[in-house]
Amino acid sequence: MNSSNRRGRFITFEGIDGAGKSSQIAALVKLLESHGIVVEQTREPGGTELGERLRALLLHEPMHLETEAMLMFAARREHLAARIMPALEAGRWVVSDRFSDATYAYQVGGRGLDEARFDTLEEWVHPGFQPDLTLLFDLPAEVAAARVANTGEAPDRFEREQRSFFERVKAAYLIRASRAPERVCVITADREPGEIRAEIELICTERWFK
Ligand code: TYD
Repeated sequence: MNSSNRRGRFITFEGIDGAGKSSQIAALVKLLESHGIVVEQTREPGGTELGERLRALLLHEPMHLETEAMLMFAARREHLAARIMPALEAGRWVVSDRFSDATYAYQVGGRGLDEARFDTLEEWVHPGFQPDLTLLFDLPAEVAAARVANTGEAPDRFEREQRSFFERVKAAYLIRASRAPERVCVITADREPGEIRAEIELICTERWFK
């Protein structure tokens, strides 16, 4: 079967701020392309023109917790309709920096959103749909915080949160991962980038390129 008549795969990267996802996303896209796969790289919140406008609000404007959760899912609804689903249906693969696991970790875990509210929004926006593979970058919150502090960029509304917030986000990510062990691979992220890259390559090879 060639890529034009087979649905593409949806791969997401997750982890607390400073987990080191960005360089690994670029490496994975290169790896997939080396296998002749057409890849769309995207991110959340964002990924569409409207989504990027919502991102600017989400990252910088103070708002009620439920407003934040609903805007995350609003951006996601648009992202799914305008980009993710059309790409997958056309046989392209989509690699996204974050998806709904981030809402579970940050809004439910970090901020204390009622889990039933999250379930309702997730069921509304993507019933029965989840990534084919999620790479969850896990590392101690203090290591991640030091990385964020060293970027030299002004921190956004999330990056300014206390260490305890990121401890809760990290714990919630691991709970979510434990509920979907087939889908979510937990990557120990306080290691050499080369080692992490090799582990991700192995995971993909085992799944798709053997
Ligand atoms: P990210 O793009 O990883 O940040 P940066 O560009 O600074 O590397 O993510 C933006 C922030 O949005 C991040 O702090 C996590 C947060 N976020 C949520 O709180 N909930 C969500 O559902 C998503 C997708 C992101």
